[in-house]
Amino acid sequence: SAYAAPLAPTFTACHDSTDPDKKPIDCCPPTAAAADSKDYVPTAPKVVNTRLAAHLVDDTWLAKYKKALTAMRKLDDSDPRSFKAQANVHCAYCNGGYYQAGYETSKLNLDVHFSWLFFPFHIWYLYFFERIFQKYADDDTFTIPFWNWANPYGMFFPSIFIDSSSPLHDSLRNSNHLTKVLDLNYKGTDTSDSTITVIKNNLITMYKQMVTQSTTATAFFGKPFRAGNASGPGAGSIETTPHTNVHRWVGSEPGEADHGEDMGTFYSAGRDPVFYSHHANVDRMWNLWDSLGGQNFNDSDWLNSSFYF
Ligand code: C2O
Repeated sequence: SAYAAPLAPTFTACHDSTDPDKKPIDCCPPTAAAADSKDYVPTAPKVVNTRLAAHLVDDTWLAKYKKALTAMRKLDDSDPRSFKAQANVHCAYCNGGYYQAGYETSKLNLDVHFSWLFFPFHIWYLYFFERIFQKYADDDTFTIPFWNWANPYGMFFPSIFIDSSSPLHDSLRNSNHLTKVLDLNYKGTDTSDSTITVIKNNLITMYKQMVTQSTTATAFFGKPFRAGNASGPGAGSIETTPHTNVHRWVGSEPGEADHGEDMGTFYSAGRDPVFYSHHANVDRMWNLWDSLGGQNFNDSDWLNSSFYF
């Protein structure tokens, strides 16, 4: 059909998403922003900024992070740069807020998980989030810190997010996991293994996901998702593990919140500031995979996919 490629959402037709209780939830972008959207044309950066590991940032840097996040939290929800509106970008693209352009009547969703859209969607989502941060931090070299869960020193919840009086804090988290070693294979049950064993297993997992099981673009990025296809044909290695496990590890336990809010379920994941640091490390895995000799897709349906932010 005329819509064979690229795969694009029908922005103006964003509709209610569905929360885990199957109730409608409005995650659509502010309407004024929709009317004002334009195609983004990337230009060569004047400087290349460096993202820092979250466990290594200093006080000056942290003060800027707080300043930017405080400003974004204060913006009115109708401002697309508000923290709320940014968190909702994720919700709308994960919980059925968009139909694919040309497939509105058949109600074919454009969801960004469990397919080759996973890496490109999130890398651009963070790119714009980071630019908003730079604006409110008054520093265009400012960057989102990455939660380096691939390195033993980063295999704990980053401490900068713990202080409950900080704008980096989020109250819907599993409180038992904030000071424990992170289990990259977490599936809902805590392991009784020692810290050193968990770290060793994590390193084995990283090698397996990045190297042994990522020998092709499809294995690494996920399965092709083209216009007219159903969402979620199949996730790549990193999206599956450790990406999803880290989400679940951070999100609340049953009893604290019903569906693992905030990080443990799609519609609310972007409400926890640590989301952006988790995904900054997911971005980094793409870069590392390239540097290990991984070959990106050369498929125009992938290259021309588009999103609204
Ligand atoms: Cu869109 Cu980490 O999920």
